[in-house]
Amino acid sequence: MNDTVNRQVLLVEKPSGKLGPEHFKMSKAAIPEPKDGEALVRVRYISLDAANRAWMHGATYRAAVEANTVMAGGGIAEVVSSKSPSLAPGDIVFGDTGWQDYAAVPAKHLSKIPKIEPLTHLLSVYGIAGLTAYFGLLDVGRAKAGETVVVSAAAGSVGSIVGQIARIKGCRVVGIAGGKDKCNWLTSELGFDAAVDYKDGAVFKALKAAAPNGIDVYFDNVGGDILEACLSQMNNHGRIACCGAVSQYDGAPPAHGPRGIPGLIVVKRLEVRGFIYTDYETQHARALAELESWVKGGKLKVREDVLTGLEKAPEALVGLLAGENLGKRMVRVS
Ligand SMILES: NC(=O)c1ccc[n+]([C@@H]2O[C@H](COP(=O)([O-])OP(=O)(O)OC[C@H]3O[C@@H](n4cnc5c(N)ncnc54)[C@H](OP(=O)(O)O)[C@@H]3O)[C@@H](O)[C@H]2O)c1
Repeated sequence: MNDTVNRQVLLVEKPSGKLGPEHFKMSKAAIPEPKDGEALVRVRYISLDAANRAWMHGATYRAAVEANTVMAGGGIAEVVSSKSPSLAPGDIVFGDTGWQDYAAVPAKHLSKIPKIEPLTHLLSVYGIAGLTAYFGLLDVGRAKAGETVVVSAAAGSVGSIVGQIARIKGCRVVGIAGGKDKCNWLTSELGFDAAVDYKDGAVFKALKAAAPNGIDVYFDNVGGDILEACLSQMNNHGRIACCGAVSQYDGAPPAHGPRGIPGLIVVKRLEVRGFIYTDYETQHARALAELESWVKGGKLKVREDVLTGLEKAPEALVGLLAGENLGKRMVRVS
């Protein structure tokens, strides 16, 4: 090991409004010594996720991130030394390493992953994004050939995979994304049947034109007004896969929720189900095999948006929340 210091990005203050780079600070610490049962890992890539911002609000499916601690986040890392029999130097792992060069992490919280090329695919299509898209669409949404699938945050890491899987399964696919360029990318590069630019206003009308036969499956990444627009256009017995609510993460909560709940859910006999990709842990291998066959067969395109340098992590997250990213955003650390 050549380094002697561990660079870290601390969350110095929890934002009450929008997240900005001023809420973070670079810091230095000693490289930690792993205790019994832990491994010392060197972080290679940090995953930037909309959920990073949601964790600042309070406990979710994980503990809240607190001020004056190393910013939490998933990453791919290489084992440097290990005090656990399950990991050895050189192993590649995924875990909550936090935004830093090195971390000492209990081995039971690290998943050993294959050394594939490119390694970055383990954060995108073969990581949380791919698994979330796969199970949310096919298990929660139960999308079938001939049905209309609508997905929001469609040009993001999860959404861009959802739409492509829906196309592979023979669905009509409509993506909702911010801006003309993103919408063009969805239809011209990823094969979506139509795209709606929600920043152009009049989402309800544009959605009606893009999905004239109504919506059978809505994969909801955003909540809020877009959920409201989709709800009223759902077909009877439609399914809404509640994946996340990125429109609510950054800033003050909105004054009211989407209208139509529960009335439209009752009248249209909708299934509205939340899920977390870890619910499907025992089935991950099956999903990964199918995702790999689609990628290798050229049916599923993988778009990664990689920034270089640990110090870029704060602006990378702020930018993701503002919609800068196409596909999966991550930071290369080493
Ligand atoms: N349930 C699970 O297991 C699970 C796992 C992973 C992720 N998720 C969820 O999946 C969703 C996508 O997360 P991600 O990390 O993959 O991020 P991402 O989609 O790669 O990036 C977030 C995107 O959200 C869009 N966005 C931001 N503010 C918005 C707003 N007010 N209204 C509509 N769109 C907005 C932006 O694109 P535009 O330019 O289009 O606005 C931005 O690019 C999040 O809700 C996240 O919490 C859930």
